[in-house]
Amino acid sequence: MDIRPLTGGLGAEIHGADIRNAEDFDAIHEAFATYSVIVLRDQIAGPDDHLAFARRFGPINVNRFFKPVESHPEIAMVLKEKDQKEAVGEGWHTDHSYDQVPAMGSILHAIEMPPFGGDTLFVSMGAAYDALSPTMRGFLDGLHAIHSSRHVFGASVQDSEASKSGRLGNAEAATQDARHPVVITHPMSGRRGLFVNPVFTTHIEGLTPDESDAILAMLYDHCKQPEFQCRVRWQAGDITMWDNRATWHKAINDYHGFRRLMHRITVDGVALTP
Ligand code: SIN
Repeated sequence: MDIRPLTGGLGAEIHGADIRNAEDFDAIHEAFATYSVIVLRDQIAGPDDHLAFARRFGPINVNRFFKPVESHPEIAMVLKEKDQKEAVGEGWHTDHSYDQVPAMGSILHAIEMPPFGGDTLFVSMGAAYDALSPTMRGFLDGLHAIHSSRHVFGASVQDSEASKSGRLGNAEAATQDARHPVVITHPMSGRRGLFVNPVFTTHIEGLTPDESDAILAMLYDHCKQPEFQCRVRWQAGDITMWDNRATWHKAINDYHGFRRLMHRITVDGVALTP
């Protein structure tokens, strides 16, 4: 197995591993814990192999809103058809941060890729936190923020292309509001990192709306620096797993006129602590 870091911030690509092989799991798990984003190249895996691999990490966290893969309700389809304009996950976000117990990780399998583009960007929230001044870190430590699914998956977005095309649904289930520390201690590594994101975080508790908006906007600008990022260029067959407690991600929507189909499984996490 050959593990090659993608950037100084986070991420590694792994060649010569097989997600179906139990003997490869410990090394894959260690790489995941070290790099937060791992790209397993050239996998020969069907939905059952994908599920079996995910279950080695923990119980599956079934997504409420994405259309599932036929006969596999635990696997969400992340799909953009060639005549569609909007991609799922275009904004910087952390999957399931609106849950009381946010998902540990997501495992995305590239089934059909466009001839160019359709990359995914990731940010290291630990690197972003480390680069803040001690004074700003001191201000943020101890604060809590509210995250919600309502404005992203609820009734107000039922006119969106993703809802109308059936890629997203179940708007009535978008009732999650969760309170998490703005700075968490990562449950595996113990590293401190920011846990707010532009899509699901609505506000920081205890600040006025203007103060909360200004602090979040400053943090979001800070987090988007290229030094904290890596970019995954996909080939069909690749599987990328990321740690939702340590990263943001964003799907690049630059392949209009072509189809892109991914299968995503999300794995349960633990409650987050400061
Ligand atoms: C997601 O946001 O989970 C999907 C990312 C992607 O399609 O690249």
